[in-house]
Amino acid sequence: MEEQYILEMVDISKSFPGVQALKGAGIKVRKGSVHALMGENGAGKSTLMKILGGLQPADSGKIILKGQEVSFSSPSESLKNKISMIHQELTSIPHMTVAENIYLGREPLAGKVFVKDSDQNARATELLQGLGIQIDPKIKMVRLSIAQMQLIEIAKAISYNSEIIIMDEPTSAITEREVEHLYTMIRNLTKKGVAVIYISHKLNEIFNIADEVTVMRDGEYVNTKKIEELTRQDIISMMVGRELTHMFPKVEVEIGEPVLEVKNLTRAGKFNNISFTLHKGEILGLAGLMGAGRTEVMESLFGLVPANSGEVLIKGKPVNIKSASDAKKNGLAFITEDRKLTGLFLPHSVKDNIIAASLDRFVVGGIFMNEKSVNGICEDQKKLLRIKTPTIEQKVKNLSGGNQQKVLLAKWLLTDADIIILDEPTRGIDVGAKSEIHALMGELVKTGKSVIMISSELPEILGMSDRIIVMHEGKLTGEVSRQDATQDVLMSFATGTI
Ligand SMILES: Nc1ncnc2c1ncn2[C@@H]1O[C@H](COP(=O)(O)OP(=O)(O)OP(=O)(O)O)[C@@H](O)[C@H]1O
Ligand SMILES: [Mg+2]
Repeated sequence: MEEQYILEMVDISKSFPGVQALKGAGIKVRKGSVHALMGENGAGKSTLMKILGGLQPADSGKIILKGQEVSFSSPSESLKNKISMIHQELTSIPHMTVAENIYLGREPLAGKVFVKDSDQNARATELLQGLGIQIDPKIKMVRLSIAQMQLIEIAKAISYNSEIIIMDEPTSAITEREVEHLYTMIRNLTKKGVAVIYISHKLNEIFNIADEVTVMRDGEYVNTKKIEELTRQDIISMMVGRELTHMFPKVEVEIGEPVLEVKNLTRAGKFNNISFTLHKGEILGLAGLMGAGRTEVMESLFGLVPANSGEVLIKGKPVNIKSASDAKKNGLAFITEDRKLTGLFLPHSVKDNIIAASLDRFVVGGIFMNEKSVNGICEDQKKLLRIKTPTIEQKVKNLSGGNQQKVLLAKWLLTDADIIILDEPTRGIDVGAKSEIHALMGELVKTGKSVIMISSELPEILGMSDRIIVMHEGKLTGEVSRQDATQDVLMSFATGTI
């Protein structure tokens, strides 16, 4: 007999101006199961889940919850029906505490007027402890790393005691250890009969945690299968509609002279005595676990937060980089980990964002280049990176998460920086576009540029780097050549067990 579905979404369509995001999409989810929802960037995964979460209405289609047809016109209605959601974009309020964020909108009322902080903190402490998350609920969200914020979002979604939890790329900011921890949390949930809808571009995760997989393409339902019936290649071909064989297109480039030398760079409490060299034409991988200090080193290098001591040489000359504009003048570009906070102007168009870091390039003889040439350049970038948007005039906030990341890459690829720092460059990017970005990195170094790539995905580090340095708790713990690098070696450096 067919098992009862806890949730059926049937024939869902939804359009935005110029974009049909969903046409006849759907998913059928069983109680107590983990159901992966997969598809390329812009396939419509988040849109389908936002409809379920009451954030957006569908144009047509049906939602059947435990046999009853329902429709939600707000997130609170969806929550009342025991559906909660971890959003792809972090939604916390920075100047509130962890506990305030978790219980936002449902504070325990004391005397029906004020929220009693002590109660809320106690509840939050119990919740976080129960989930094994070691974060003090009394501290403000701004003080957390992105990874910690993501853990709080996870805890918040779980705290509603829902029957269905939607996780839209829950691991985009966390590394192996926290991912294992999330799996444990998920297994505990499914044991209690909770259904989890899990969106991720990381195939490893899908094979680790999913029971079933639904694939979407271009807003349409493609297929649903049990995980045992699928190989990685099956999922990839269902997603992209073609075979994709060349996963890490590393090009061999002659490595030249040093272009960047970092000597004993130290920032109190963050990192200590960091020394490394980057050569012309080289892709240097920077591996490590969350909180190892990798991003912090790059922030200091780029002049965003000053280091306390140490020396930086660019092309053999000592430099004193005190701001992002100093960094740019010295030929550095930094594609940041958190595209929302530091990388993109969301209310602005794709075009404005793409040209934002290289405006001087568009000024010829003191006159801003004509609209047509600017458009041409942006159209080229759109094509090159396959940015899915109806026009380059579209606001970035209306793009899917992965396509926002591509805009950010386009922006920095246009600058004529020689040293390009990429912090988690393919986070949230689908497999097809990922290999295109990797190919592009190859193109960059072929033209004599150099790349530092921070990545928490070991296959990416192993596949793309010429040389790999590893950080653990603010210190450099290892350096390996491409030939000698293996997952095990990197993990032991990253966990400080060598
Ligand atoms: N508010 C909006 N206005 C206009 N277009 C939108 C809006 N929200 C989504 N879209 C478009 O709908 C399509 C589907 O987007 P969606 O965010 O659902 O993709 P996704 O599968 O979640 O992709 P990703 O893997 O990149 O997160 C995209 O083309 C996107 O640009
Ligand atoms: Mg999405």
